[in-house]
Amino acid sequence: MPFTSLIFTENIEADLKKELSGYAPNQIFMLSDSNTQTLCLPVIRGLRCLSEAHFLSIPAGDDHKNIENLAKVWQFLSQEGATRKSILINIGGGMITDLGGFAAASFKRGIPCIHIPTTILAAVDASVGGKTGINFNGLKNEIGAFHLPKAVLFYAPFFKSLDRQNLLSGYAEMLKHGLLSNTKYWNELLSLNLSNPESVEFLAAVKESVLIKENITEQDPKEQGLRKALNLGHTAGHAFESLALKRGMPILHGYAIAWGLLCELYLSSKFFGFPKDILQRYIHFVREEYGVFHITCKDYPGLYESMTHDKKNESKAINFTLLSNIGEIHLDQTANQAQIEEMLDFYRDMMGI
Ligand SMILES: NC(=O)c1ccc[n+]([C@@H]2O[C@H](COP(=O)([O-])OP(=O)(O)OC[C@H]3O[C@@H](n4cnc5c(N)ncnc54)[C@H](O)[C@@H]3O)[C@@H](O)[C@H]2O)c1
Ligand SMILES: [Zn+2]
Repeated sequence: MPFTSLIFTENIEADLKKELSGYAPNQIFMLSDSNTQTLCLPVIRGLRCLSEAHFLSIPAGDDHKNIENLAKVWQFLSQEGATRKSILINIGGGMITDLGGFAAASFKRGIPCIHIPTTILAAVDASVGGKTGINFNGLKNEIGAFHLPKAVLFYAPFFKSLDRQNLLSGYAEMLKHGLLSNTKYWNELLSLNLSNPESVEFLAAVKESVLIKENITEQDPKEQGLRKALNLGHTAGHAFESLALKRGMPILHGYAIAWGLLCELYLSSKFFGFPKDILQRYIHFVREEYGVFHITCKDYPGLYESMTHDKKNESKAINFTLLSNIGEIHLDQTANQAQIEEMLDFYRDMMGI
């Protein structure tokens, strides 16, 4: 069973060098986006072990996670003579780890890769678990493959330049991991100081979140069972994301998930008696930190329609992961249209809209 080394490093130079010497690649390729090229890459670019590496940067932003940029990476690898003994290092957010991971999965039927996540979302979610891919035909992550990175290197100073929105976006996935794991971690998360992503407490929480995701994906790498737990908050969240996109005002993924979690915790309390006090505290927290995503009852049919199209749905019924308490997970739960409308009514009530 292949596995990924998860390296939480304070000395990225030494740890990257150590990691690379373990593979002795014949050539090293590095992929960044236009932001991480200027904000993060300079920290490691001068390393002796990278002195002969080949560098490619693609434009930043999820709309560039597409076939054109994937082809650019293939072209780059092919032109420079990459082989299965070469290695691709992806330094960036989830856009880069997804696209670069898929380039590595597909080039010459698979070459090794290392991820260096530079956003919280990439650290706690996208870089761990081996899902890679690109958007295609207007659909998110439509084309992709499972391809585990050889290693993921987490280096906190990279998070310093993240804006608050991107910080909160990644933090929402940490909240999801908290809900899937235990009350102690959940309480720690809610009392974190979000203004200081470099604090010891914040980094410990990131690490815990990475380990929760790794633990789940290791038990179910191809999403046949337990991995579906990671879909918590995502059925409703993806519908909000799609609606925002249709309105021409896209929202960050994690924000959609924060609001989606609120909706799905409501269903959890309705179907499984998820504790109301935890739900109330979460609602307060979301309003404070993430604000409100505006919907009216006119949006319900579109939201319902999006949920029926969610990729993770295996049948016509709308599928949810729900909880009876923190860490008590119920997979493959379904809700009908009336129950979904009730959930959206609750969301609007709680948001005061
Ligand atoms: N494979 C998976 O399991 C998985 C899981 C969750 C999300 N994803 C994917 O991840 C992507 C979202 O990830 P993301 O939020 O990291 O997006 P992203 O990579 O687009 O990064 C968000 C923005 O932050 C910038 N950025 C990156 N690092 C920075 C830094 N250190 N300082 C300042 N700015 C920085 C990027 O250039 C970009 O503009 C989506 O494509 C999503 O589908 C994949
Ligand atoms: Zn997500």
